[in-house]
Amino acid sequence: MTGLQVRIAVADAPAAGEVRLLELDRHTIGLYRVGDQYHALADRCPHRGAPLCSAGRAVRGIALDHGIPTRGAGPALIRCPWHKWDFDISTGRCLVQPRLRVRRYRVERDGDDLIITLRHPTPEGAAGREPERAAFTP
Ligand code: FES
Repeated sequence: MTGLQVRIAVADAPAAGEVRLLELDRHTIGLYRVGDQYHALADRCPHRGAPLCSAGRAVRGIALDHGIPTRGAGPALIRCPWHKWDFDISTGRCLVQPRLRVRRYRVERDGDDLIITLRHPTPEGAAGREPERAAFTP
């Protein structure tokens, strides 16, 4: 681990629905897996500052299947421990107040390792678009 990045083996990465907490330059970061992708989020709720990753829990979302509400395939949301608002792990977006987002960090693959850096996953000049490098796909 260096000051601005942390490296962990893919084998040590969390399973879906779990979180692995990482410390990086005095930032606490929650690493999650949704489907085949890994996402790194700040351990701070953008609403009132709750410890989102260290005290929140990953939950399934609700989707419409031909107009019928169904549970999502796997945990893709994190629920804040204080006011129970849900945040999309892959985008950081709040489902209750869409203008609120959890800070996200870049996750990249290097061989059998994942590298998490303090850099934001949004590419330069992509304002208004969803980040293309928000996660690593094995
Ligand atoms: S502090 Fe997280 S929803 Fe209020």
